[in-house]
Amino acid sequence: MIQKNLKILFVLLGLAVSNLAIAGEGMWLPLLLQSLNEAEMKSMGMKMSAEDIYSINKGSLKDAIVHFNGGCTSEIISGRGLLLTNHHCGYSQIQSHSSLENNYLRDGFWAKSLKDELVNNNLSATFIQRIEDVSKDILKGVTDAMNDKDRQSLIDQNMEKFKLTVKKEAYEDIVIRPFYKGNQYFMFVTLTYRDVRLVGAPPESVGKFGSDTDNWVWPRHTGDFSIFRIYADKNNLPAEYAEDNVPYTPKHFLPISLDGVEEGDFTMVFGFPGRTNQYLPSYAVSQIVDVLNPAKIGIRDRALKIVDAEMRADPQVKIQYASKFASIANYWKKWIGESQGLKSTNALDKKHQFEKEFMAKVNANAQWKDQYAYLLPEFKKLYAEIEPYALTRDYFNETAFRNIELLRVVNFMNNLVTRFDNNGETGYNDYKARLQSYLKGFYKNYRANIDQKVASDLLGLFDEKVPIDIIRQPLKEAVALSGTKSLEDFTRDMYKRSNFTTYDKVLALFEKSPKEAVAAIKADPAFKFGTKMMTVYDNEVGKKYNAINSKISTLQRLYMKAIIEVFPDKRFYPDANGTMRVSYGKVASYEPKDAVKYLTKTYLSGVMDKYVPGDYEFDVPEKLRTLYQQKDYGPYADKNGKMPVCFIGSNHTTGGNSGSPAIDAHGNLIGLNFDRVWEGTMSDINYDASICRNIMVDVRYILFFIDKYAGADYLIKEMKLVHPKKK
Ligand code: ARG
Ligand code: GLU
Repeated sequence: MIQKNLKILFVLLGLAVSNLAIAGEGMWLPLLLQSLNEAEMKSMGMKMSAEDIYSINKGSLKDAIVHFNGGCTSEIISGRGLLLTNHHCGYSQIQSHSSLENNYLRDGFWAKSLKDELVNNNLSATFIQRIEDVSKDILKGVTDAMNDKDRQSLIDQNMEKFKLTVKKEAYEDIVIRPFYKGNQYFMFVTLTYRDVRLVGAPPESVGKFGSDTDNWVWPRHTGDFSIFRIYADKNNLPAEYAEDNVPYTPKHFLPISLDGVEEGDFTMVFGFPGRTNQYLPSYAVSQIVDVLNPAKIGIRDRALKIVDAEMRADPQVKIQYASKFASIANYWKKWIGESQGLKSTNALDKKHQFEKEFMAKVNANAQWKDQYAYLLPEFKKLYAEIEPYALTRDYFNETAFRNIELLRVVNFMNNLVTRFDNNGETGYNDYKARLQSYLKGFYKNYRANIDQKVASDLLGLFDEKVPIDIIRQPLKEAVALSGTKSLEDFTRDMYKRSNFTTYDKVLALFEKSPKEAVAAIKADPAFKFGTKMMTVYDNEVGKKYNAINSKISTLQRLYMKAIIEVFPDKRFYPDANGTMRVSYGKVASYEPKDAVKYLTKTYLSGVMDKYVPGDYEFDVPEKLRTLYQQKDYGPYADKNGKMPVCFIGSNHTTGGNSGSPAIDAHGNLIGLNFDRVWEGTMSDINYDASICRNIMVDVRYILFFIDKYAGADYLIKEMKLVHPKKK
């Protein structure tokens, strides 16, 4: 018995020690590194200072980190504005330049000189000039006693007033965001460039190698990168596209290390993580695991199954639906991993334990007891209250908007009608022009017969599962009204009679006068059914959901404040909110299950192991196979002579960190972040150092590809290649 306890103790200690050794949790604000993180980072092997990472007085790493079109991250890798990001981040730009003759998705693209770089519409690259804590100004006059509405309106007023006082250049913008659930506010002064051109991309068989099967999975072998360049006017300032714009000269660009990584090496990921939820109460976590994730996964299971069968049956459909399928599958797969990970790491037990400690401390202090003792019980009540609404909301969003595409069109048509009703013909024409250009692209990849199958199946699931009865009403009524006997007949009939099922029919509608078109839209059976559903949803679910959710947000803000106060020795990082953050950890293996250990690096030999000739996910281009056979790796091989492809680390990342640089102890680029491992996708809710790993492309694979495969060595010459380990 004692023996066993001792063993458990050692196992616990062992785990604790090794977790400490690889650390990794947290997405930190660059301007606070010095006070919160520098010492730890140095103890983990970092050789830089916090000032080298973020400085407003001199060029620092942050000046090379660029928000790519508001969704991904990218980094400057040359003195002439060369920008590195993921292939999946540049995907729509690459796609937009592709045609049957010049199929850049399939074959890749490499500009031979500046003149050949491809201009993109609506692509932005945003730098962060400086960050400031503006909580005092923004929260001036705000008290805990205020109700939410008054609080928010005071905050809005404060923000407007404050913005007028900020010293900035005309070409700079100001962004102010809440942190720690609204307990603090930070200001970001930004600089956005809009002439960003495509320089190069590998073929999809490299940039998307493994596609959906390998997505969120380690070991991984994807060369998920693409290259752009920022252009500026003659003063190096942002300008709309012009022929005489010149390559942007950065304040800093990342040198690139040729020395590779080994287990235990310090790593840092710098970028724009989108959204995390680390401070949820246990009630929210169990709702996600037991109720919401299973529902969303179930809906997508059914949609994906139908689309997959169609894609397998018809190569044309396969092309048309590839990108849609990938995007539905991406989060479907993530949620499955997330739920499993939350269970396997006992996230709920940990939350309970934390809440117990919290309550013990609160109850031991009269003032805290007064202020905070009600928080957790109140959460419990509100999460119980919101559950049927949250579940219905997920069913509705996933069914109506995400997976039944006809209803998505209905939603757009509804906007058009609203514009007409509110702003007459000008409102109508203005929106119609934009809608038409969107729909043109939409219908290229739309098959009404497939959508109809999805609709019939998902409406059935919806009818069966949705927990709030009244939301079934519109469907029941529509079926009755149509005179059909089954859901299947009803959907078939609706798709047959609707004018939204082909681009030609929509064009015919749009040729009518606005008044006639609006009348025809309103008479469309899909429109009638879809808008009825939306109205009932808004009135019976949306409003109630929002009301409860706003109470939860307030509570969450107070809870955040409370835990910071009650645990003064703990270090808390704010949840991701699309702002610039630093994560750091180490190159680290992990043990996903009993008797299995995953090593840190993959090689080109692993690409060849997965190679399936002609396959949609696992084909390998001939030239890459030849380079592999000849071992023609130039200076980019690993110490063992093999060509490295990807590696993993314990850095805490999430969606939005795609394209983020992985940086070594000295500030050099070593990799390009693009994914997380399956077992650790729950890190958005409960980071666990034992199995949470981010996946990066080894930068040497990128260089090898540019140099040896694409023959674009003129790009390599722009870069600064270094050997930090050979000093
Ligand atoms: N899972 C990665 C990220 O969210 C990569 C996604 C790329 N898409 C794909 N279907 N493989 O979002
Ligand atoms: N692929 C994700 C993105 O597009 C990053 C992976 C993650 O969620 O960690 O941002």
